[in-house]
Amino acid sequence: MKMRAVMSLGLAVLLSGWLARSAEEQRVTPTQVFMRQKVAYSQKIVEGVALEHYDVVLTNTLYLWRMSQTNSWTILHNPVYREKTAQFQVDAVALMDAARAKNTAQVLDAYARVTADCVSCHQSCRREQYVRQHELMAPKPVTAQKVSAEPNTKAEAK
Ligand code: HEC
Repeated sequence: MKMRAVMSLGLAVLLSGWLARSAEEQRVTPTQVFMRQKVAYSQKIVEGVALEHYDVVLTNTLYLWRMSQTNSWTILHNPVYREKTAQFQVDAVALMDAARAKNTAQVLDAYARVTADCVSCHQSCRREQYVRQHELMAPKPVTAQKVSAEPNTKAEAK
């Protein structure tokens, strides 16, 4: 019970922090602008894939690939991020090759891999970032000793 109370308090703290932050400033950081640009290119790539407009696929994949070579892309300096970036670049090159060859089957295959790379990097790198940012705010874990010192009956009755 106490554990649950602490956890919901923690959740409330997290939530209020989040609300306060989103209320106080709806400002979009330059990194977010940069990151969202990836979606704009990706949309064009989908369009190109769907209509077999290989030049559209090629150009927009090239833009994405170029983004991945810049300092703004390299916001995290850890080996996982570097590895994910490298994989993304390999698959983006494969997509450009497929578009140049006007081979729809290969375009579809490479496109799927590029998209999987977006997800894969976000799953590992964005989560890492999130956890790191929130570590300071998170409630301290309740030790077993503290919990057992509480009169159990009172907690159970609530
Ligand atoms: C190598 C890692 C990596 C790859 C690959 C990657 N991203 Fe991201 N992306 C990130 C990171 C890190 C952030 C978080 C940046 C932040 O919140 O400061 C992010 C954030 C975003 C955001 C959110 C921006 C916001 O408003 O908070 C979008 C949208 C996005 N990426 C789209 C894509 C798309 C589409 C692809 C694939 C074409 C892609 N990303 C590939 C690392 C990656």
